[in-house]
Amino acid sequence: MFIVFEGIDGTGKSTQVKLLAEALRAQGHEVITSKEPTDGPHGSKLRQSAETGRLSAQEELDLFHMDRKEHVEDLIKPALARGVVVILDRYFFSTMAYQGIRGFDPTEIRRLNEKFAPIPDFVFILELDLDIALSRIGGRDGQANEFEQRDALQKCHDVFASLTDGFVHRIDAGQTPANVHKDVLSDISGR
Ligand code: TMP
Repeated sequence: MFIVFEGIDGTGKSTQVKLLAEALRAQGHEVITSKEPTDGPHGSKLRQSAETGRLSAQEELDLFHMDRKEHVEDLIKPALARGVVVILDRYFFSTMAYQGIRGFDPTEIRRLNEKFAPIPDFVFILELDLDIALSRIGGRDGQANEFEQRDALQKCHDVFASLTDGFVHRIDAGQTPANVHKDVLSDISGR
């Protein structure tokens, strides 16, 4: 099973990845969790660029794709082939949203990604009021970085909101983390 958490910054994705991994492990499943951008060379370059000055839109898009290709080949596909549950904090839907707002067509980004990246069984989109998301980001980083400006988050939210696939599940992330987790579990078991 391949499960992805998406949503704008500050929606609690990493907490939910952790809670779901613990719950599935307690049920006896083998689970691997990971995130994008990864800690590999391309992902590290992307994270640095958020602090030290943004790359060109094309350079950034290329790095996200190179990072994901490695992630798919080295971790995601081998784990799925072994029957391991894979849970990710962000995937190509984030590229559609975040690089979409830098001028690329989200539909074209998706087409390019689907050539090499497996489609998840579940994509949980954590939805949260922008003001709450911004206040959470402020609390976490001290100051919102360049990726995390309000206008950009609104546009990202709109791209996530436009996804209509059957594997997409929207969850109210304004609830307590425990209740968000309950909703996630109930969607998975109700499948
Ligand atoms: P995070 O580790 O806090 O989720 O931050 C990663 C940042 O990278 C976040 O602002 C979203 C951004 N991002 C993209 O712009 N494109 C992508 O494809 C991915 C996976 C993340």
